[in-house]
Amino acid sequence: MAFTHVSVLAQEVIEFLRPEPGKRYLDGTLGGGGHTEKILIESSPTGQVLGLDLDDEALAAARDRLSPFGARFISRQASFAAAAGILSELNWRPIDGAILDLGVSSHLLDTPERGFSFRLSGRLDMRMDRRESLDASEMVNRYSAAELERIFKIYGEEPRARRIAAAVVAARRRRPIEKTDELAALIAHAKGGRAGARHPATQCFQALRIAVNRELDQLERFLETGYELLAPGARLVVISFHSLEDRLVKSAFRKWNRSCVCPPRAPVCTCGWSRKAKLLTTRPVTPSAAELKLNPRAHSAKLRAVEKI
Ligand SMILES: C[S@@+](CC[C@H](N)C(=O)[O-])C[C@H]1O[C@@H](n2cnc3c(N)ncnc32)[C@H](O)[C@@H]1O
Repeated sequence: MAFTHVSVLAQEVIEFLRPEPGKRYLDGTLGGGGHTEKILIESSPTGQVLGLDLDDEALAAARDRLSPFGARFISRQASFAAAAGILSELNWRPIDGAILDLGVSSHLLDTPERGFSFRLSGRLDMRMDRRESLDASEMVNRYSAAELERIFKIYGEEPRARRIAAAVVAARRRRPIEKTDELAALIAHAKGGRAGARHPATQCFQALRIAVNRELDQLERFLETGYELLAPGARLVVISFHSLEDRLVKSAFRKWNRSCVCPPRAPVCTCGWSRKAKLLTTRPVTPSAAELKLNPRAHSAKLRAVEKI
């Protein structure tokens, strides 16, 4: 199956990163390679990009697409949370700019066998990195009702989390829940009520995906010390697609922008913190109406950017 993904806020990413020849960039979420391709074009003839992704199919597609750029493009199957080590191995630190375009690609959502979609029938998988053993089937069929409730509530902000978790546990006593559409129908039935604009399983599927891939942990790990990867003047751009991610990005960037993180009433500064980066976006940048018309999947995208000082 051909790899399809339309890059979100592509022009804005380039405007923030301002790629230049001779500079090195990190694309921590390579996907189909759309953002990387733009960075490589804008930084011609000598700019370089390291692309990371957990999904082997994304890497294969991006390597193929970006082969005309030769050694200017390097890729690894790895999490962006491991970027520091990989950049050190390559002797690429500090870098001149970085982008994270979080979440899943359209390819993952539209490929039934990857198990991300409640609209398509496939095995309950949801692993971005297929070298990992924990998948959605294991969670759905083995986790306790309390664990499932917590996942649906925290990662899906699903108000009927308890009822849905109980329905999952009751259904799997009869036989294992194996398919995405089976789980989606079960959730819809447990939630009851009238059909709305959104499929009733939307939030629980998002929750399982976040839990399987430990998405928020990965992002938190990156944001803890991500500024250390950047050269002075280098910019980091992050695009998020739901409030849990955006909250983490917003609060990390605010912290990086502060010169002291002591409690507000502390008489003297004892935190030892110093300002790491300048905030370039006080409010997030969102897609234009024209972009949304062409790519409805961009609808919840929020871009935030900082510049290392
Ligand atoms: C929205 S897509 C990126 C699309 C890409 N920017 C483009 O223009 O084609 C997100 C990608 O990030 C990958 N991904 C998600 N979390 C990751 C992580 N922690 N480390 C590396 N890749 C990750 C997914 O597998 C997916 O391919």
